[in-house]
Amino acid sequence: MKFNLFYFGYKFGTLSGINVIIGQPRAISKIKGLSAKVSKRNLNFNTKKTKEILLEKMILETLNPMHYNITNVVPEAMPAATVPILLLMGFLFLIWNYEETSSIPGPCYCMGIGALISHGRFLWMGVGNACNYYNKIYGEFVRVWISGEETLIISKSSSVFYVMKHGHYVSRFGSKLGLQCIGMYENGIIFNNNPTLWKEMRPFFTKALSGPGLVRMISICVESTTDHLDKLEEVTTELGNINVLNLMRRIMLDTSNKLFLRIPLDENAIVLKIQNYFDAWQALLLKPDIFFKISWLYKKYEESVKDLKGAMELLIQQKRQKLFTVEKLDEHVDFATQLIFAQNRGDLTAENVNQCVLEMMIAAPDTLSVTLFFMLVLIAEHPKVEEEIMKEIETVMGDRDVQSDDMPNLKVVENFIYESMRYQPVVDLIMRKALQDDVIDGYPVKKGTNIILNIGRMHKLEFFPKPDEFSLENFEKSVPSRYFQPFGFGPRGCVGKFIAMGVIKELEEEIEDKKVLGCVSTEDRVAENQNVLYDGHPKHM
Ligand code: HEM
Repeated sequence: MKFNLFYFGYKFGTLSGINVIIGQPRAISKIKGLSAKVSKRNLNFNTKKTKEILLEKMILETLNPMHYNITNVVPEAMPAATVPILLLMGFLFLIWNYEETSSIPGPCYCMGIGALISHGRFLWMGVGNACNYYNKIYGEFVRVWISGEETLIISKSSSVFYVMKHGHYVSRFGSKLGLQCIGMYENGIIFNNNPTLWKEMRPFFTKALSGPGLVRMISICVESTTDHLDKLEEVTTELGNINVLNLMRRIMLDTSNKLFLRIPLDENAIVLKIQNYFDAWQALLLKPDIFFKISWLYKKYEESVKDLKGAMELLIQQKRQKLFTVEKLDEHVDFATQLIFAQNRGDLTAENVNQCVLEMMIAAPDTLSVTLFFMLVLIAEHPKVEEEIMKEIETVMGDRDVQSDDMPNLKVVENFIYESMRYQPVVDLIMRKALQDDVIDGYPVKKGTNIILNIGRMHKLEFFPKPDEFSLENFEKSVPSRYFQPFGFGPRGCVGKFIAMGVIKELEEEIEDKKVLGCVSTEDRVAENQNVLYDGHPKHM
């Protein structure tokens, strides 16, 4: 504030100085004349202060346009160049003042031009690349604009940890029209940015993904993996390559269905619809409103969303009918059932039920399958790491199958999982919104500010001894939680974290032991699968 006043005063002085010198000789002579009159007439005034006040009053009266017709005075005297100069000075004055209102590093606002450029960069480079670009140039705490709204990009661990931990950052941000188009606006859980509604949804997910659900998911997932490995031909291309990512997605979808919905479905068709839904999510999340004025631009995304939503609605409809006809309900009370009951009680709308089921069904095929796929690729690329893992598995388990109490003894496997998630993350950005004014690491943050937590970059900046390499050494020493948060944390952290870790640990050994590893052992196949992957996964939550 002090700075603002200082600059305002300073610039006002300069501006009026220029006016007087180059623009208004008549006004100057008037001022001079008046000053002379004042000094003669007021010889009796002895105190300096009184003289100053009087002089000031006279000057102001002289410049008062109510007294002098300013349009008569200015055009005669003002050279043509003065108007553009004045406009330029005013422009610079505004920019200067705006810049000073924020102490957070970042590009300049420049009367909105800077804001347009920064949003343009997000659209042009993609969200992840744009965030890394800004963090690289301006530091780990940067202010930019998305749709004209102030947006912070943070990759400093202390600030990231602070945001995750506190309850007034539990909301997310994204284009309202984009979220409406994909059905996530104030709906479901993942991008529900209405804190009251989100709070009502979250317990359904927490309940389904913890306790008995957690144990069951791991065993169902192992079973499903075995089943799918027995019918590998379904995911084998004409050239004999196995689409490993597709295989993982099918396993995850099957597991999610057997746990949360339990209605037979066409795996292949739904996996494809889920991928198209991700494309839409990725493409529309930060689009400016103008994009939604041109229907042919977003039509294909709208279709993809409609496709998956339609398929889910049909499955939920079948579930309702099934619930209506069963005699004993006990064994049918799963995630979808709980939601349908809540709707029957009037607690949830049908739209909410459908979106929650849709999000639960896509969460694992979206994240777990891609994470496991990355792990296989990393093993294929690092044979020494593979040797270490195999040696540990043999020592701990011998010939028998893996059991859940083996986990604490599989330290190399655990380090490998963490290092894969650090080095090649499936989610590298987390979107949040400030629900009240605050100060983060000394920077003032206004209510309503958008926040992007750049955890992908954070994991390569602090603490780790070999941040840019894939190396198990990075997890040899125990890592304090603030430096490594692949699932986020706090009240809005990943609700599937424990299930995800359980499944990854089980499947990592299961898959490694069986045929899948061989499928990704040639470079061509790795590249082929990576292409599928990079095109199809939204890297932000
Ligand atoms: C490797 C696997 C996974 C990773 C890396 C991951 C990562 C994340 C991250 C970073 C967030 C945002 C957290 C935040 O804002 O602080 C998130 C949210 C979420 N995740 Fe996961 N996730 C994984 C697996 C799963 C699974 C298996 C499920 C469910 C079956 C799941 C369900 C969710 C949901 C529902 C949210 C939104 C929570 C909310 O907004 O309240 N995730 N996940």
